[in-house]
Amino acid sequence: MKKRFYSLALTSAILLASTGYAQTASIKPAPNESAIAGFGGYAGLMKINLDLVARLKLNPRIGALFKETDADRLARQLSDQFCELLGGGCTYSGADMKAVHQGMGVKTHHFNSLAEDLQAAMDAAGVAQSEQFRLIAKLAPMKRDIVEAKSD
Ligand code: HEM
Repeated sequence: MKKRFYSLALTSAILLASTGYAQTASIKPAPNESAIAGFGGYAGLMKINLDLVARLKLNPRIGALFKETDADRLARQLSDQFCELLGGGCTYSGADMKAVHQGMGVKTHHFNSLAEDLQAAMDAAGVAQSEQFRLIAKLAPMKRDIVEAKSD
């Protein structure tokens, strides 16, 4: 009886982990969830960023760079970062933008391609245009740290 319980618990744990549900279930609301309500709160940001990373991997122009990327990890880093930028009170603890993108040879057209995928992910999640612009306006200044100098 005991043995069956443990094996059932183990099977459930494996199932939860493999569907990614375990990670989704651990999502806590942001300290100032109202600032990101237009994105569906922190859980909504995670959904958008998981969709974004899936789109990046399939993108013929930049997908090769994200081939080995751990989608859950990058989606969480992006969600923390976007939440912080939007005033949701989260703390982004990932790498510095200049350091992480250095040496990748990112050009303006790569940057725009990623921005298009982000907009498509936000459209799919039903985020209003005004809210999309609010985020894009916060991300735009990062271009100087991400795109290599003298590129088009
Ligand atoms: C506004 C635009 C962008 C933002 C906000 C952004 C943000 C980030 C963040 C938060 C990380 C994770 C840092 C960490 O792991 O600590 C990251 C990693 C990365 N970014 Fe960007 N990024 C942007 C544009 C781009 C562009 C245009 C490219 C290339 C086309 C790019 C390629 C990558 C790659 C390859 C990684 C590493 C992914 C991995 O861990 O495998 N990023 N970026």
